[in-house]
Amino acid sequence: MPKIAIFEPKREKMSATTIEFLSKHIGKTVNMQGWLMGKRTGKGLAFLVMRDGSGMCQCVVDEQQVSPEVFEDTRRLTQESSFRLTGEVVADERQMGGVEVRVKTLEILSISHEYPISPKEHGIDFLMDHRHLWLRSKRQWAIMRIRNTLIMAIHEFFQSEGFIQMDAPIFTDNACEGTSTLFATDFYGHPAYLSQSGQLYGEAMAMAFGKIYTFGPTFRAEKSKTRRHLSEFWMIEPEMAFHDLSMNMDVIERFLRFVVQKVIQKNTVELEVIGRDPAVLQRVAEPFPRITYEDAVAILKGEKEVDGRNALATLEDDLRLVKERAAVVQEEIAQREDQLKQPGLKKGEIGFYQSRLQALKEELSDCEEQMRNIPIWLQSAAQFRMGNDFGGSDETVLTRLFQTPIMVYNWPHEVKAFYMKRDEQDARWAKGVDVLAPEGYGEIVGGGERETKLDWLIEKINEHGLPMEAFEWYLDLRRYGSVPHAGFGLGLERLVAWVCKLPHVRETIPFPRMYGRIAP
Ligand code: 4AD
Ligand code: MG
Repeated sequence: MPKIAIFEPKREKMSATTIEFLSKHIGKTVNMQGWLMGKRTGKGLAFLVMRDGSGMCQCVVDEQQVSPEVFEDTRRLTQESSFRLTGEVVADERQMGGVEVRVKTLEILSISHEYPISPKEHGIDFLMDHRHLWLRSKRQWAIMRIRNTLIMAIHEFFQSEGFIQMDAPIFTDNACEGTSTLFATDFYGHPAYLSQSGQLYGEAMAMAFGKIYTFGPTFRAEKSKTRRHLSEFWMIEPEMAFHDLSMNMDVIERFLRFVVQKVIQKNTVELEVIGRDPAVLQRVAEPFPRITYEDAVAILKGEKEVDGRNALATLEDDLRLVKERAAVVQEEIAQREDQLKQPGLKKGEIGFYQSRLQALKEELSDCEEQMRNIPIWLQSAAQFRMGNDFGGSDETVLTRLFQTPIMVYNWPHEVKAFYMKRDEQDARWAKGVDVLAPEGYGEIVGGGERETKLDWLIEKINEHGLPMEAFEWYLDLRRYGSVPHAGFGLGLERLVAWVCKLPHVRETIPFPRMYGRIAP
């Protein structure tokens, strides 16, 4: 995969080189500015890890090569202190980015107070409370840069296919995706909601411009803590005139393949930082299986196999492996606890054992969670009733069997939104499609073909108990030049979570809003 070239901007004489471009300056002296991530000191030497937002780099200060003031200043630098330096760039394959900087001069901008986030492990609540600082960590750096790549790739894909970007309103008087997750607000004395989806407005724009997409914030009051629900999330919603369900699925597949491959091309370093194997992601190049809801249910219940693998048996294997792993981890925890009790340990050793112990305890708690969950998932998969919507755990069980995203289509119309097109041959089904990401991630895209029959649509609005007045303008789209059309919605944070293989969506957005969290 060719790496995309990023060109270094021309700089003013006194401005600094950023770390991402250092490898272009080997053998030269550069100015740099940033923050201290970490420091090691040895005899007459100090190793500073500087970050500047564009990357991280090791900078070596040799007492023999700098003034006594500079060497003294390096001693004063605390974690997250800000500073400038000049130094020579030398190639060093062992270092991140393949370079190291030999410091010549150094200027302190600000000495940081004792930084609350130390290299040792912290609990998730502590980190979330310090999100404004946590964003500076290496892992968050990698995730946010991948999010950025995805955002730009999304625009690039749609722009290159002739879609018009539109902004849908955020204040709205209609419930597009059901009344149970609305955030109500007041609009000059009229009841209003924060938008759950821009789709209905997107449909109006598609009738004016052919192919459009929205990219904006959407809001859902999800009163439960899950690893895939945010209260405020960013959704991309393309809408296409003269498209049916199968053309819609073609677009989704091309689209997801394009954006994931952009990450593989542009974010080699970031993927390495978070330990995500690009070879696994590269499987998006393969066709995405298209499975009817009925078949998906049969797979989930273990009645149909996928490449000789049974969903329930696979899950039972998972459970066995988790139990084995938990036993190993437990044993190592006991060992580390004994080591910590030994007399005469050095400070560094204590720190090392403690942080290893913390990591092991977290892994054990993950294992225990799985040991609690898997039997419940197994039971609920086996008992799943045809006609129901999939729950999060059903999606996990189903996608565990696949390496690429899968597209589940033709859903029971009762579980889908009012605007979904009913199959005219078999009115049990609505022409919806959900894209479920592999590796247990589950739904990242929901979409489908839209109902065009005016009377069927009116019936559905009534069935869902929605106020007809709020949808009169929407019905106009069927009255005046109605055409087959389709579209979908991609949840950006769910995409980031899967691409980065994160256990929870809370790390996919700079400042997550979710049940129980509105600060910082
Ligand atoms: O499946 P949903 O509800 O579909 C719609 O909103 C349609 N109007 C889309 C369309 O056809 N134009 O939501 C679409 C996607 C989901 O697949 C999921 O990725 C994401 O939005 N999503 C959420 N992401 C994070 N937190 C939540 N609470 C989410 N709810 C939905
Ligand atoms: Mg959905």
